[in-house]
Amino acid sequence: MFENSNPTPLVAISDPLLSSKGISLHIKRDDLIDTEITGNKWRKLKYNLIKAREQGTEIILTFGGAYSNHIAATAAAAKRFGFQSIGVIRGEELNENSNPTLQKAHADGMQLLFVSRADYLFRTSPHWLNMHRQEYAAYIIPEGGSNHLATQGVREILHEIDLEFDYITCPVGTGGTLAGLASGLHPHQKALGFAALMGEDYLEKEVAQLLAPEFQSRQEIIHDYQFGGYAKHNPELISFIQGFYDQHGIPLDPIYTGKMVFGLYDMIKKGKIEEGKTVIALHTGGLQGIAGFNETFGLNLVGS
Ligand SMILES: Cc1ncc(COP(=O)(O)O)c(C=O)c1O
Repeated sequence: MFENSNPTPLVAISDPLLSSKGISLHIKRDDLIDTEITGNKWRKLKYNLIKAREQGTEIILTFGGAYSNHIAATAAAAKRFGFQSIGVIRGEELNENSNPTLQKAHADGMQLLFVSRADYLFRTSPHWLNMHRQEYAAYIIPEGGSNHLATQGVREILHEIDLEFDYITCPVGTGGTLAGLASGLHPHQKALGFAALMGEDYLEKEVAQLLAPEFQSRQEIIHDYQFGGYAKHNPELISFIQGFYDQHGIPLDPIYTGKMVFGLYDMIKKGKIEEGKTVIALHTGGLQGIAGFNETFGLNLVGS
């Protein structure tokens, strides 16, 4: 289960901006790790599903929003590795045909439970979780897949990077990816997380909970590039993503990786990344969500 013998590619980006600032930028293409369980989802699900199997659990229960990459990946992983899956979805007005993400999760056999936004708030309540754990005899994975086992999987990314670097960047949604990266860094290295949603303090707390005290200072969340909140965007972001694809042939999604690379370029332009540094940007996948995003906003972004 979850064998990936080949490291995902590390692609050097050449760009006049980068050379003018003496910055070496590489993209770690974790979006290519698998066709369905992509990016950080592969890393975060790995040890959770291994644990579920060890416990003899047959049902995986997890949570997500309408376009959740985590829901799509969990449904695909459950199908592939022989688990049943249940997705608790935020939005009682939705159904399995509401968008391509939910359609695919449903087609992969995930049972979708649509709950109101108010009920969805119970997803972290120990009482509610216990009730569901017992009712479904399920292994429960938190929203976004972020827990300590997830950070263990994310940390393995660092073992695949055969290059001295100063910064590693990732998008931040629930914080597990950033915590996992920071937990494997040397003191002179730093993980920069680009918030994909509003939540100053809240996101910091989420990351802090997943990270041992000695690693706290090896990460920082940048809040300047969330574009007004989750899935919010503007023409500048969309044209940056399109331009990046045209120039480098690497698709980015507008919810997570697009905001991260946009933010990183802006920080480089403004001299906030020091000259001479080597930066790795982690491509965390998320390309499955582009179809639904295009449909909703009438856009034409390139997906996987
Ligand atoms: C494609 C993608 N990148 C990054 C993230 C953020 O990762 P994390 O939730 O671990 O902060 C998510 C999900 O939240 C995601 O779907």
